[in-house]
Amino acid sequence: SRAIKIAPSILSADFANFGAECQAIEAQGCDWVHVDVMDGHFVPNITFGPATCAAIRPHIKGVMDVHLMIAPVDAYIDAFAQSGADIITAHLEAGPHIHRTLQAIRGAGAKAGLALNPGTGIENIGYLLDMVDLICVMTVNPGFGGQKFIRSQVDKVARLRAMIGDRPIHIEIDGGVTPDTAPLVAAAGADVLVAGSAVFKGGSVTNPAPYGANIQAI
Ligand code: DX5
Ligand code: ZN
Repeated sequence: SRAIKIAPSILSADFANFGAECQAIEAQGCDWVHVDVMDGHFVPNITFGPATCAAIRPHIKGVMDVHLMIAPVDAYIDAFAQSGADIITAHLEAGPHIHRTLQAIRGAGAKAGLALNPGTGIENIGYLLDMVDLICVMTVNPGFGGQKFIRSQVDKVARLRAMIGDRPIHIEIDGGVTPDTAPLVAAAGADVLVAGSAVFKGGSVTNPAPYGANIQAI
């Protein structure tokens, strides 16, 4: 069986205290910190940019996993790499030149991730498999936390894991991951699970008590 990593998404954290929130989830057992960047154009929500990533970087000991829900992407890759992102994930749907985008991410010194929206198949990503370190399967339509897991994506995960074979590529699941849905995608071949509301629910910076229990439950 595959070791499963939990990557809490700070989209559901206290936006006034990202540093303390990152310290709390790391202290309570998370593996990566998932940072959701939204531009109000590729997705109908706006979060934050490279400056915020740079500000929270010193508060993260482990992997800062930056998910870019922005279009166009290429102009911002260097800024996110310089902010300290270990992984930079771009959406296949964000533009016509995804191969170039992935080249640019690795060229900037970060690991490259490819995100696929729920409606996007895996039939056309064969020429990208040597360009990525991670494939992020969206199990909600991007833009918001707390949405319902889209079950049709479980089959996509299994097919993707078969396509990847023994290549060193993480399959990350993003959206609607809870103790109920996590086993489905883990069994299908996922090895990194993003969870926002399932981790941060009921907590706050002054009382992060539930974070550890929420992380372990997934
Ligand atoms: C959605 C983001 C996800 C989201 C997950 O656009 O990419 O990472 O924060 O939140 P939950 O786990 O609450 O669905
Ligand atoms: Zn995300």
